[in-house]
Amino acid sequence: MDDSSGEVIEKRPVLWFLTAHWASVLGSALVTIAGCSWLFLIVLHAGGGRAASNPYLGILIFLVIPAVFFAGLILIPIGVWLSRRRIGLGLGTAHNRRATFQRLAWFFGIMTVVNLAIASQLTYRGVTYMENTQFCGQSCHIMKPQFIANHASVHRSVACVDCHVVPGAGGFIRAKMNGTRQLVEVALNSYPRPVPPALQSNELAPSGETCEQCHARGLDIGSRLIVRSKFKDDEMNTPTWTVLMMNVGGGNAGGIHGAHMGPGVEIRYRATDRTRQTIPWVEYRNTGTGATRTYAVPGAKPATGPEFVMECADCHNRAGHDFEQPDQAVEGALAAGRIPIGLPFAHKVAIEILSADYLSDEDAIRKIPTAFAAFYAQKYPDIAAKRHADIESAGETIASLYTNNVFPDLGVKWGTYKTNLGHTDNAGCFRCHDEAHATPEKKTITQDCSTCHNPIAVDETSPAVLKALGLDQTLSKRLKQ
Ligand code: HEC
Ligand code: HEC
Ligand code: HEC
Ligand code: HEC
Ligand code: HEC
Repeated sequence: MDDSSGEVIEKRPVLWFLTAHWASVLGSALVTIAGCSWLFLIVLHAGGGRAASNPYLGILIFLVIPAVFFAGLILIPIGVWLSRRRIGLGLGTAHNRRATFQRLAWFFGIMTVVNLAIASQLTYRGVTYMENTQFCGQSCHIMKPQFIANHASVHRSVACVDCHVVPGAGGFIRAKMNGTRQLVEVALNSYPRPVPPALQSNELAPSGETCEQCHARGLDIGSRLIVRSKFKDDEMNTPTWTVLMMNVGGGNAGGIHGAHMGPGVEIRYRATDRTRQTIPWVEYRNTGTGATRTYAVPGAKPATGPEFVMECADCHNRAGHDFEQPDQAVEGALAAGRIPIGLPFAHKVAIEILSADYLSDEDAIRKIPTAFAAFYAQKYPDIAAKRHADIESAGETIASLYTNNVFPDLGVKWGTYKTNLGHTDNAGCFRCHDEAHATPEKKTITQDCSTCHNPIAVDETSPAVLKALGLDQTLSKRLKQ
């Protein structure tokens, strides 16, 4: 092969080396194609609008294309090395070869700097992209319920990773390994339906690394007034009110936060089930006062397994994405005027319709508005005629309450994910505060109704407290007839 004579090598343009072996040809092609398509797509992405909000575009820009780019980057030197080996089999003078490879080294030095600049941008953007809510919630179909619920929560502007990933490289890698496992599960269609609550699978990052990056543990929050509107199942959908003064406290001030998470306080517990609903053993320690008290349910099977230290998510387990029960969903929509309170029996009928089974979102969207309208057509034909538009839009609202909370294809039903903050949906606080957990000295964990809150009014139609606060008129006026 005269290719391999030293003279010829010396005159060869650098580009020759890139084309002398199929591996470097492929590599250069990949780098160029990836680079160009990346530039094109990034412009599209930065342009905003519909295209930019498509999560698959993001996957392309930040994950697939960079992967192609890096693969190309690796192939180029391999190809060059292979072709160099081929031509360098001793032909030509040593001087010529040295000169040629010096030029080649320069070329690659410069190219590598340029490529590294692009590559570091790609990696950086890829990492930031993987941390955004859209990636977590939308690209990964199985997390659609949490994505939708997160959008309706106070934490809608908090990224999924701020609660789910411990800051730093270790946490990121762990989260991506989990994510990769989930991707494989999605591909094999073997993922658990529903996805188990993170506390249950012990996958939740400690609150010190997540919640407490934004909320101070020791803050004294004081008392908080909760005013909740509910409705009766009667023809008038009569509104009632529940008013609680919550003793949240915190730090040295005691109260709910102070009692479990005040300075020096540590509460540990053991559960007999993975959902942590049955807790037969609890220990309270206070390094400030030196007190240690161990509470157990007499006669209960002693819990083995891991010991958990109580923290934010033991109570606020649904802070990131809360799902409603049918009555809560309907009450929220009535209070917001999305279902007019003037439609007779709207509360009762809407809850009944929502509680039925539907095969899919589409099935629910088709059947729910029809069922709601059918009730009025049958029982109140004059109202059905006069308020046709209201009934139609209320029907659509009720369908959306279903699709925001129930995901038949993902195994998420009403009540699949229940809150521990309270004692109505779940045992919640009463898992421990049941007067059954006792120390050997018979001290119990209290269930006294006014320790955690003062229930000022419970389901009252016209509570004096609302008048005293000047809220009765304002709140009633908000209810749309
Ligand atoms: C404010 C903190 C917070 C944010 C923000 C948050 N989560 Fe969560 N997430 C939690 C907590 C706490 C749990 C544990 C719930 C439990 O065990 O009951 C959880 C559990 C989960 C689970 C397990 C199933 C379940 O619902 O319990 C998934 C999946 C999940 N989160 C996905 C997401 C996605 C996707 C986002 C972003 C769209 C997100 N999370 C945002 C705190 C958060
Ligand atoms: C990235 C910062 C951030 C993180 C992380 C975070 N939060 Fe928040 N949280 C906020 C902000 C901001 C608000 C106020 C939102 C508002 O009022 O619109 C808030 C509000 C709340 C509220 C008040 C809800 C209400 O109804 O007013 C609770 C409770 C709460 N967070 C608990 C938690 C818990 C528990 C975690 C961890 C699982 C957590 N947060 C993680 C920023 C954060
Ligand atoms: C023992 C259960 C419990 C623990 C543990 C707990 N909380 Fe709370 N927290 C409550 C209750 C109950 C309220 C009252 C509000 C309510 O009922 O909606 C509350 C209220 C709050 C509020 C809202 C205050 C407001 O302005 O309305 C924030 C924010 C909050 N908690 C954050 C946290 C954080 C962060 C942690 C962990 C460091 C934590 N909580 C630990 C039970 C708890
Ligand atoms: C894992 C068990 C456990 C759960 C769940 C739990 N607590 Fe507690 N709670 C305790 C223990 C233990 C103490 C301290 C008892 C002691 O002082 O010896 C305590 C103390 C308290 C106190 C102070 C009581 C007093 O006598 O001053 C309040 C208030 C309180 N809890 C509120 C709540 C609220 C609200 C919830 C639910 C959102 C809740 N707790 C859930 C274990 C629990
Ligand atoms: C260990 C603390 C604790 C004790 C003891 C306790 N509660 Fe509660 N209660 C809560 C919390 C926390 C909530 C939830 C507040 C929220 O929804 O944000 C709640 C909510 C409620 C609600 C409103 C429920 C709703 O429909 O929204 C009522 C009513 C209520 N409690 C009554 C009682 C009564 C009656 C007792 C006495 C048997 C009692 N509670 C004892 C912590 C407690």
